[in-house]
Amino acid sequence: MSHDASHEKLSTRAITAGRPDDKVENGINHSISLNSTFGAGSPIAYGRTGNQTWSATESAIGALEGGSTLIFSSGMAAITAALSILKPGARVVASHEGYSGVMTLLKQHHASGRFIVTFLDISQTDQVLSALKDADLLWLESPTNPCLDVAELPQLISAAKALDILVMVDNTFATALTQRPLTLGADVVMNSVTKFLSGHSDVLMGSLSTENPEILQKLEDARQLLGSIAGPFEAWLALRGIRTFPLRFHKACENALELAHRLSTHPKVARVRYPGLPTDSQHERAKKFMKTFGAVLSFEIVGSPADADRLCDSSSIISHATSLGGVESLWERRRRWPSESPSVPENLIRLSVGCEDVDDLWTDIQGALAAI
Ligand SMILES: Cc1ncc(COP(=O)(O)O)c(C=O)c1O
Repeated sequence: MSHDASHEKLSTRAITAGRPDDKVENGINHSISLNSTFGAGSPIAYGRTGNQTWSATESAIGALEGGSTLIFSSGMAAITAALSILKPGARVVASHEGYSGVMTLLKQHHASGRFIVTFLDISQTDQVLSALKDADLLWLESPTNPCLDVAELPQLISAAKALDILVMVDNTFATALTQRPLTLGADVVMNSVTKFLSGHSDVLMGSLSTENPEILQKLEDARQLLGSIAGPFEAWLALRGIRTFPLRFHKACENALELAHRLSTHPKVARVRYPGLPTDSQHERAKKFMKTFGAVLSFEIVGSPADADRLCDSSSIISHATSLGGVESLWERRRRWPSESPSVPENLIRLSVGCEDVDDLWTDIQGALAAI
């Protein structure tokens, strides 16, 4: 009997979805299907068109986001597939500040004439609303990486849909436990599964979820023809991570809020960006529709970029590394990457808060701040 997760809470769905129907025959977990081909007549046929382990992971992410889901070899592969369904010359409205890989890709598409992209401050709702006229796609990332700007998702999505504009939302920072853009009317939700969903910094994967069967078909065709498929082992690891995702995420969000408060009173910290802080410019908007404020925060130090680099090297629990969303805390100065947006302050450190004890993390942070 197939499992109907529709009435369950998301924390239950993360555990129940994507299990084998027949647990006597198959066990509690799906196994890793290592097959590049299938016997003639099989619905999968070939390893680039489908895989039983992918399907299990897709069911679990779909149960969280509330739509049919496809997984890809990385978040960027998922984004590339999503953008590939737009016609050449499409008009795209997007934030001028967001994940640097997406920013670079959109700038390249704009420069080559593939798309005409309007970049704007996504937290300025009026600016976004007036840019929507004649647009084909509204690309939303909220909160943004790394400045934690929050887009007015309910209003922007409904305004775009009233104009029949395609809406895609990068939900990597927020996750389905914070906001579920498909329920607000978005057409496609993208996740870098690499981050919170997998949660252990050992997998690269992306996902696209949609409730629209025509869009799903186009995305599936794109995955098949671009060949941007996930490995079965990675799919299995991601699904294993998803089982504990709600537990990890809640703990990490709790830690992030506490650290944001403590950092904001430290004399060597000039500004903390975290939508959960009542003093944050994004807080009033965020609290209207976000169920959590996420587990990533950014702060600017009183000091130079070299001081910020030194600080990131001076911790013992928090690793000096890029990426986010794992059980282990990571930090880095984002402008160390030449591709990072010039609007991101040079001395801004992005901290991905993990699940360690919050007092241990604070001792580590205080020690690192004392070193500069
Ligand atoms: C918000 C956001 N979107 C997309 C991506 C790309 O995902 P991946 O690294 O899995 O390709 C990242 C990676 O950091 C990200 O932070």
